Amino acid sequence: MKRVLITGATSGIGRGLAEQYANDHIVYACGRNEQALSELTQIANITALQMDVTKIDEIKSQCAQIDALDLLILNAGNCEYIDDAKHFDSALFKRVIDVNLLSLGYCLEVLLPRLREGGQLIIVSSSASFLALPRAQAYGASKAGATYLAQSLAVDLDHIDVSVVHPGFVKTPLTDKNDFSMPMAVSVEQATKAIMKGISKRKKEIHFPKRFTFILKLLQLLPFSMWLFLSKGIRR
Ligand SMILES: NC(=O)c1ccc[n+]([C@@H]2O[C@H](COP(=O)([O-])OP(=O)(O)OC[C@H]3O[C@@H](n4cnc5c(N)ncnc54)[C@H](OP(=O)(O)O)[C@@H]3O)[C@@H](O)[C@H]2O)c1
Repeated sequence: MKRVLITGATSGIGRGLAEQYANDHIVYACGRNEQALSELTQIANITALQMDVTKIDEIKSQCAQIDALDLLILNAGNCEYIDDAKHFDSALFKRVIDVNLLSLGYCLEVLLPRLREGGQLIIVSSSASFLALPRAQAYGASKAGATYLAQSLAVDLDHIDVSVVHPGFVKTPLTDKNDFSMPMAVSVEQATKAIMKGISKRKKEIHFPKRFTFILKLLQLLPFSMWLFLSKGIRR
């Protein structure tokens, strides 16, 4: 059976992927939440690894026994908004960049050498990276960085396929905290299906739901000054 390692597998999208891949893959499911990890170990083919992706030593020790991977899905992430950009909260900014961007570097250093020739690396970014969005100075910057990282790895790495995932809104504990409406939000099941389909086709970019992401992609083509004008309409 093929082997897949998924970060952020204790909740939301990552958990959906872990449960589905466990049908016919050996799954290394990573996260910090002990209760969720112990539930995952009840599922056949799943090995739980407790690690904080912002701590390279934990990644190294938890993954020491893994010798080869076919699929590496870097999905762990968090979202916090900057409510008052005038009084910039650098601690919040660091927290978000640490989890969503710097952690990718740690995981890549430890796990990329274990990915076999012809394997696949998947980085879960966000469609928030397409446009400058209100209150998203930390989250959007981290995800724009994640997208750039994935795409520049695709340029340099010939021995594997690299894909970047740009989800629209997905109903998960992460977005349950949102205090605004989430147009065209999809379920974890729909997100899992779209991501697994894209991975099986080795798509370079996996984005969904298409109606939503195409609108954002069109808006991305506008001159920035025009987007700036339109964006005032979606500010709180
Ligand atoms: N939901 C959406 O609408 C949406 C849209 C675009 C992109 N995304 C991206 O999709 C990914 C998954 O999001 P989700 O909505 O499924 O969120 P979620 O339900 O909150 O799950 C987040 C996962 O990340 C893990 N995680 C967070 N911080 C971690 C840390 N320091 N070390 C290890 N694991 C950590 C959590 O595990 P523990 O708590 O166990 O550590 C959890 O398993 C994120 O990268 C997110 O930015 C989500």
